[in-house]
Amino acid sequence: MEPLRICVLGLGYIGLPTASLLATKGFRVLGVDVNPDVVETINRGAIHIKEPELDILVRSAVHSGNLKAATEPSEAEIFIIAVPTPFMEGHRPDLSYIEAATAALAPCLRKGDLVILESTSPVGTTDRVSMQLREARPDLVDGENATFFVTHCPERVLPGRILRELVENDRIVGGVDPPSTEAASRFYRTFVSGEVLATDARTAEMAKLVENSYRDVNIAFANELSILSHRFGINVWELIRLANHHPRVSILQPGAGVGGHCLAVDPWFIVSSAPEDARLIRTSREVNEGKTRWVVERALDRARRFRDPVVAVLGLTYKPDIDDLRESPALEVARALIAEVEGEVLACDPNLRVFEEFPLHSLEECLERADIVVALVAHREFRHLDSELLKDRVIIDACGVIR
Ligand SMILES: NC(=O)c1ccc[n+]([C@@H]2O[C@H](COP(=O)([O-])OP(=O)(O)OC[C@H]3O[C@@H](n4cnc5c(N)ncnc54)[C@H](O)[C@@H]3O)[C@@H](O)[C@H]2O)c1
Repeated sequence: MEPLRICVLGLGYIGLPTASLLATKGFRVLGVDVNPDVVETINRGAIHIKEPELDILVRSAVHSGNLKAATEPSEAEIFIIAVPTPFMEGHRPDLSYIEAATAALAPCLRKGDLVILESTSPVGTTDRVSMQLREARPDLVDGENATFFVTHCPERVLPGRILRELVENDRIVGGVDPPSTEAASRFYRTFVSGEVLATDARTAEMAKLVENSYRDVNIAFANELSILSHRFGINVWELIRLANHHPRVSILQPGAGVGGHCLAVDPWFIVSSAPEDARLIRTSREVNEGKTRWVVERALDRARRFRDPVVAVLGLTYKPDIDDLRESPALEVARALIAEVEGEVLACDPNLRVFEEFPLHSLEECLERADIVVALVAHREFRHLDSELLKDRVIIDACGVIR
């Protein structure tokens, strides 16, 4: 039997690992990206994103002949859409990438094909993909029923562990109708060792958004506690440690805000679909965004008490021990301080080897010269700072490294 052909649209952090994994599992994979540089890089067996062991996987997938890249889709039995879903002005989701990918694959679709939307999407998007395909291909609609399958399968991998989690994570699979759910479940069971959990498309879409909103809401609680603790003269880290001794309490840690491409974005997909009802989710976003400005204001308040202060900013990435700057609150704090401090701001992030926006400084230089130390990300290099070096400095610790 001929191996199944799979067309993966969007070759970024999700699409490229998925495409190369499937190619090494024996599927014939065409990776499609609108960026010709990405296509050229992958066809050389190289990669354009950073992810452990992805280079080896892509090289072997391309050399096996099972992975090819192109700027246009072609016929396949399975289409996987993994294009970006950012938000626009007013936190409204931008679905134009999904619409463009759907339009591009529509002419290649045949009876019995399966289309899977993996992009994180507001509730109702998979139905819209199905409608768009029905309108583009009336020849594939038989009375009420389409002769192709459309399913949502949200991706929940963690950058840095993508290759492992693509296989090991449980997957939620929700079709626009039960045959679509069944077709996609069968496909994921061929390479996923985690559970494949069947539902409908709208529940699958909401599940992904809810997972990230759950964390955002809980971090907002911790961030609010940090502001209240400051007002009451309480050490928030000790407060949370003590409260968490309660057998049914598990408060998360506060920070300089919430960053990353998922937690800071996905809750808005719920809020923009139901602004009147998503009150807690919206407030949590506002609390987390407000925390970032609160850290800036605290640092500025202290800086104003010095003539030409030197302010050291420790950490720029959106979480500890990675080099990812997407939606990073720490970077936002650093930018604001550079713009607003009347003095010198020294930024330090040991995880960033290349960073061009402003100069980076060593930790030693920062600690030696700073009047004010603003700790923003609990990178391992910052976790055991020498208290001697911090003596006589003003400390603003947003991430709990200086206790
Ligand atoms: N990165 C993650 O860790 C992660 C985790 C879970 C879910 N997601 C979701 O997965 C989706 C993809 O995210 P990503 O991080 O892989 O994005 P990415 O920006 O890394 O990659 C997307 C790729 O799609 C390409 N593209 C854009 N329009 C296209 C089109 N019409 N046809 C073909 N290619 C097109 C872009 O050129 C880019 O290479 C998003 O919805 C995201 O929210 C991402």
